[in-house]
Parts: sequence; structure tokens; C-alpha cells
Amino acid sequence: MEELKVTPWEVSGELNEASYSKLVKKFGVELITSKLLERIEKIAKGKLHPFLSKKIFFAHRDLNLILDDYENGKSFYLYTGRGPSGKMHIGHLLPFTFTKWLQDTFDVHLLIQITDDEKYLIKSTRTKKEIEHVAEENILDILSLGFDPKKTHIIKDYDNAKELYYYATDVAKHTTMSTIKAVFGVTDSDNIGKVFFPSMQIVPSFLLSAISGKNLRCLIPYAIDQDPYFRISRDVLPKLGYYKPSSIISKFLPALQGNSGKMSSSVEESAIFLDDSEQTVKKKLMKYAFSGGRDTLEEQRKYGANPDIDFSFNVYSFIENDERKVQSVYDDYKSGKLLSGEMKALAADSINLFLNQLRQNREKVKNHLSEYMFNPNDFVGHRM
Ligand code: TYM
Repeated sequence: MEELKVTPWEVSGELNEASYSKLVKKFGVELITSKLLERIEKIAKGKLHPFLSKKIFFAHRDLNLILDDYENGKSFYLYTGRGPSGKMHIGHLLPFTFTKWLQDTFDVHLLIQITDDEKYLIKSTRTKKEIEHVAEENILDILSLGFDPKKTHIIKDYDNAKELYYYATDVAKHTTMSTIKAVFGVTDSDNIGKVFFPSMQIVPSFLLSAISGKNLRCLIPYAIDQDPYFRISRDVLPKLGYYKPSSIISKFLPALQGNSGKMSSSVEESAIFLDDSEQTVKKKLMKYAFSGGRDTLEEQRKYGANPDIDFSFNVYSFIENDERKVQSVYDDYKSGKLLSGEMKALAADSINLFLNQLRQNREKVKNHLSEYMFNPNDFVGHRM
């Protein structure tokens, strides 16, 4: 079996519960306990996000410190990001959807970093111009989720190089080559941009503290492949006089074919892309989606399906907000009342509805892009 490898630049090997447990140990993160969930639920006035209750967001670092401070009236900010490597798929929306919920629940500022430089330096054959185009498209996709323009700030690495580079040199000064080699697997034949780039992704985890002159906590949502950056961030930030950043970490949305790999842009048939047509979504689900159903219609009617491992049911449950509807589909599918093909059709309809809504939002956001762009002056002098 292929060896499990999870780095920001490569994810391979089988992804199942056992591999996530291995990663938790290897990366030294903690599982989100029911006690932490109770605290979040209380702040969210009884409405826990399904990604938390379903343990899609399953691990963390120092989330308790964020909650301690928040309960004592001290705010924090959120930070997440996207590397504009190409079209976005629905898996990429997992952290952003959840981040929006966190922003709405805690009413806090959010930095979204677009690492166009990363995508130029690492694993890409695209020109800078092409990457800039992808970045613009990705930004619209992200903003179509409905982030609050007053509290959401997009940082594009090339455009905001002045602020980022200034502080990245502080990170670089406190990070050794052996750390970068050990954490990212950088080798002698890699370009030197790969060695420096992690400093750029670490900066937003203290940027608002640095600019405002006020030590602020930062909570970073991401899928577990991004963890290596923030492990280094936790070593470096105290040396610069800032809090270690906190993280809230998710599993991957699996490939359509099941749980052997993550949904990935580089494998067309593993993913549902945000610009897939209604027909393509239907076709992909019918042809590729891993089913928890039985082999024959008779068996399905008699024994029912296993919705928990069924791709279509899982995606349906992420998108559908009405918990009662989700439960009733779960029960029908499990009891054999609903067949696999019907489950796939239901999921395709709800994905298409969701994507159509995003497309409409995207058009509206186009005229407001400038409102979302990071401006350091907004944060100078404690204005948070
Ligand atoms: P990128 O563009 O590879 O991924 C963007 C975000 O999506 C997560 N992700 C997934 N989540 C669920 N299921 C999947 N199949 C899946 N594939 C990717 C990633 O973990 C990430 O959270 N270098 C980063 C950009 C970045 C960033 C950050 C990400 C800059 N600063 C801070 C998170 C937090 C990147 O290339 O992400």
C-alpha cells in the first residue's frame, strides 16, 4: 500500500480514520473534545456547525485559549487562505464555509491569504500572468460564500509584498534550514524560493498584531495538509513577542471514488469543480461516486445502505442546512427505502442548487471586490 504522506505540497496514501489518528500523533495536534464542543455551542447559542458535530473539523491547537479569552471579553482574528493553483473544487470550500460560520458566530476580522507566489514557485508550470488570472477567479469563488466585507481582508502575496516581506524576514531569521528540510522535505535540488516561501504564509498569523501594536490571538482554520506551516509559526512567534497561533483542523473531503484519497484538482474525475455544469455534476456522481449501497436492488431494499461511507449522502449532508431533512434521507437510505441511484440524484440536485446560488452571488461580488482588499491602514493604532 502507498505510504501515507501529507504535506502542503503532496498528499498521498490512503486517508481513513487510522491515517488521521496517525497524523494527529505525528503532527502533535489535539482532538476536539466534547467539552470544547459544548463551549463553542454555548457561544453559538445552541447551534453547533455540522462540520463540528460530524467531526469533519476534528483537531486543534490551543483552541481552548481562544475560547478562554473570548469568554473573558477578549477578541481574536481569523486567518485562512488559498493557493491559486487552478479551478476550485467543493473540497476547497470546506474550510472557507466553516471559516464564514466562525466569523459570523464570533463576529471577528478575517484575513484570507492568496499565495500566488507559492503557486509560481512550487509545483507549477504556469506563468505569473496565468496565476494572477486564476487568483482573481478563486477570490470571486471564495467571496461568493458571503463573507462580511467590513471584516474580511484579502491579502494577495504579490500585491501586499511590502507588508508581508517586511515581517517574513523576521520569520526567516528565526527559522533554520534544518527545520525547513525536516518539516517540508525540501531537498538540495529544490529551488530556494521553496525554502523562503513558508515565511510568507506564517506572516498573517501575527500580521494584525504587528500592525496594530496590540498582541492579538489568531485562529487558523485549514485541512490538515497545511499544518506544517503553523507548527513552525508556533515555534517562531513567541520569539518575536507574539502569541502562538491557534488552529482548527479538518479532514479532507474525499475523492468522489471513496476514501482512498482526497478530492484533488489534479485528478479531474476525483472532484466536483465549482464551474462544472449541471450535467457534469450529475454524470460525475452517477459514474464515480462511491456508494454505500448494496450490489443488487433486492439486497438494497432488504438490508438498506450504509450512508456514513456514501459520498453522495455525505456531500448532501454538508450542503443541506435543514437537519431534519438530512436525518430523514439518512433513515430512508439506511432502511432501504431510498436506492443508490436516487441518493445520487438527490445529491446532484442539491449540489447544483448550491453551485447555482454561488454563481449568482459571484456576479454580485464582482462589483465590490475592492471593499475586500487588505489595507494595512485599517489596523494601524489599535482600531480593532
Ligand atoms: P490550497 O489552495 O491547497 O487549499 C485551500 C484550503 O483548502 C483545504 N483543502 C481541502 N479541504 C477539504 N478537502 C479537500 N479535499 C481539500 N483540499 C484542500 C486546504 O487545507 C486549505 O485550507 N498554501 C495554502 C494557502 C494558504 C492557507 C493559509 C491555507 C495560505 N495561508 C492559511 C490555510 C490557512 C494552499 O495552497 O491551500
